Order: sequence, then structure tokens, then C-alpha cells
Amino acid sequence: MTEVETIHTNRITDAHEAHYREHGYAIVENFCTPNELESALGNFDEVVPGWVDFAKDPSRPKPEYYNKPYPDQRGIPHFPYQGKALNDLTFHPELHRFAVLMGEGEEMYCEQSHLTYKAMNTKDDFEQAMHLDYGNHTLAYPPDVPKYWQTAYLYYFTDVTLESGPTAVCSKQHYSERILVPNHHTRESRPEIYDNEVKVTCPAGSLLVYSMRTFHRGTAFTGANRGRLGMFVTYAPKACRWMGIVGWPISAGKPAFKEWIERASVEERNLLGFPEPGHEYWTDETLDGVGARFSGMDMTPYRDVMN
Ligand SMILES: [Fe+2]
Repeated sequence: MTEVETIHTNRITDAHEAHYREHGYAIVENFCTPNELESALGNFDEVVPGWVDFAKDPSRPKPEYYNKPYPDQRGIPHFPYQGKALNDLTFHPELHRFAVLMGEGEEMYCEQSHLTYKAMNTKDDFEQAMHLDYGNHTLAYPPDVPKYWQTAYLYYFTDVTLESGPTAVCSKQHYSERILVPNHHTRESRPEIYDNEVKVTCPAGSLLVYSMRTFHRGTAFTGANRGRLGMFVTYAPKACRWMGIVGWPISAGKPAFKEWIERASVEERNLLGFPEPGHEYWTDETLDGVGARFSGMDMTPYRDVMN
């Protein structure tokens, strides 16, 4: 493949990259193909039944998890999801590629993947304060050094209009201080961050890319309108064990995890922090142990490099 063709196949383009570098965020409209979007919505409906129809038409009956916590970490559905589409979008090669590019070649792992669904008057329907996400994504502080950059993504699976609780984001040009503490500001404390916010309106299937150093906030629904469905995914440098919003082993007992890890590629497993082929972790004992726990997993790539 020529370099020109490669550029064309990148869904996060050079223009998005340039915008991200200058402003701290990028909006990738129609990131998902129509098939990916349709599959994601179908899968979404399996995870939280009723929300896809409800988001289209809020006059329909309220879904089960309308205001009730979901029985998973922090009350929201996390990876692994039953089905394939949402898991595959979590590990979409473009998300990995762009995170590595921003990290100037650092190895990455996926530290966050969970769904978001809201509509008017649900518990998440309110005006958030402008904030940086590092508060629950690192034990330390996100320096302006690429090798420590986490890259956050927010997929939107429904059209986002001004009325349907768009994310608001502010260019980093408006907060150029050296140290970004505190990680939140009220309108009174930093009006310029609010006055210069951009509301992310976009068609279903789009993707917002931002960083732990990008001020943003959720906004409230206004007027009668549709619900908003999405998925947060974040990649972090693999070497930084002080980062990450969740620990994945808590989910490793889920049937959906067994299903996922048995069909995942080696690279996808690596991106979750699974020991890679060739790691000293692999011995006859661990090959047999992992193979016994996940009986459908092809251990060949791990076994082959032992010889
Ligand atoms: Fe946030």
C-alpha cells in the first residue's frame, strides 16, 4: 500500500490530528461505517434492552435501566459486552494507532470502555462543570509530555443535536497555564473556558477525541428530544500502572469475557494488558493454566515462541 493510500484509509485524518494538537480535541464525523453503527446499536440493545428504541422516541416506555444502576462497575455497563460490535469498536485499530501516534510510539493499553446513555430527566441529565478527566484516570498528574499521554474517545451512536445533551469542549488555547490544577472550574472561576466552549453536535457514528488535559463537560437536555447513546474508550501508556479508571480482572469472570478472550486477536489481548507472547510469564504451567481456564483460546501464539 502506498503512503497516499494509507493516509486515505486513516479515519482519523491528518486534519483531525492537526486540530487535536492545536486545540486538544478533534471531532471525527461519521467515524463508524453504516454497518458498524448498525451493529453497535444492535449490540447496545442486547446490553441495555430498550434504550435504542427509547432514544429514538422518548414517548415509548422507559427502559429498565432508565434511572436504575446497571449491575456492573460503578453502575454502568463495562467491557466486555455480550456480542461483538461494541467490543470490536473498543479495540478499533484506529483508536490504537492514534493513541500510539500521540504517545510517540509508546505501547498502549485500553484502560476504559463503558457505555453511556442518557435522556431528559435521567440521572445524568444535568449541566456538568468544566473539568479534566484525570481526576479518576490517574493516581498522579497528566504532564504535557507525549510518552505519558492518555487518549480518550467518545463514540456517539445517536445523532447529537444542541438539544440532546451535547458534550461541550474548550480549546486548550484558552487555558495555557503550566499546571492544570484544579481539574474543574465553575463558570464564575473561569468564565473564558465556558464562553469559548464548542458543543459537539454530530451525526450518529461520530467520535470525539480528547485528552486528560482537555476541558469539557456534559450539558443538559433541552426541550423534547431524543436520547443520547455512546461509549467511552481510553488508551493509556502500558508502562504507567498509575493510570486507568478500572481494573479489568474484576470483569474476567463474566461469561462475556471468556467469549471475548477466546476469539480476540493476540493484539487485542495485549491491548487489555494480557501477558504478550514471549513474556517471561509464560511457562508450561501458565500455558496449561490459561488454556484450562479459557478452553476455547488458541494458545499456539504463546506456545510457539517458547521453543
Ligand atoms: Fe469528563
